[in-house]
Amino acid sequence: MNKSSRLSALGFGLGLRTDHYDAILEGRPAVDWFEIISENYMVGGGKPLQYLDRIAARYPIVMHGVSLSIGSTDPIDRGYLFELKGLAARVQPAWISDHLCWTGISSRNLHDLMPLPYTEEALRHVAARVRQVQDFLGRRILLENVSSYVSFTHSTIPEWEFLRELTQAADCLLLLDVNNIHVNSCNHGFDPQAYLDAIPGDRVQQIHLAGHTRNNGLLIDTHDQPVPEPVWSLYREAVRRFGPVSTMIERDDNIPPLAELVAELNRARRIAAEAQNAVAA
Ligand SMILES: [Fe+2]
Repeated sequence: MNKSSRLSALGFGLGLRTDHYDAILEGRPAVDWFEIISENYMVGGGKPLQYLDRIAARYPIVMHGVSLSIGSTDPIDRGYLFELKGLAARVQPAWISDHLCWTGISSRNLHDLMPLPYTEEALRHVAARVRQVQDFLGRRILLENVSSYVSFTHSTIPEWEFLRELTQAADCLLLLDVNNIHVNSCNHGFDPQAYLDAIPGDRVQQIHLAGHTRNNGLLIDTHDQPVPEPVWSLYREAVRRFGPVSTMIERDDNIPPLAELVAELNRARRIAAEAQNAVAA
């Protein structure tokens, strides 16, 4: 197996949300794995952690963080990394991910996933920090492409090339959010197919699907409604290029009953199977 190969695929998963704890444990839904927001469980105890232990005993878990702030110029928060590693020791996740972004500076947290300027300097800065995190955790991490509503005039590298170069420079994996590619392609006016073309398939470990909202001419990554048709189309293209990739649906607001999300996830299964059959034919 070559060094950049992906980890084993898990199939089709959902984000673990508190609304669904009991339905998962009682109904044992046909979901292959769950993704947790790491920070929600980086606590000393309490009910969510108890539920997580029970769900982790039945389903594979992956950890998805929102606070690593890999792009910041603040030093990496060692306390945060210790806690993250401690949770990983408890949960035994298949992998750990966070976002290609910065969330604050001078120890102030903006509680938002801010985009980076895409420059050679930023690339070197982030790659060194990813290596530092990976050395500490003893494993490669996945970084997710974020949605954005502004861009930096001094960016010199397209977002998709920055991602590709980063996987090489840092030897990390990708969590490709197909909705975020669609949102950014509309907000910034680029071709989403060109984005997919540039992404190295052997680095794509996971895919996110989600819904968005239109507001004042911008698409906003709200995760509050079903996956829309343009995102399904782009997902089909992604599977055609990258093969079977662990795929999950993110829903963070207007959360429907679990059965509804499982039905939506089954659409992802069908589209992925069709896309792979088309390639095989
Ligand atoms: Fe995402």
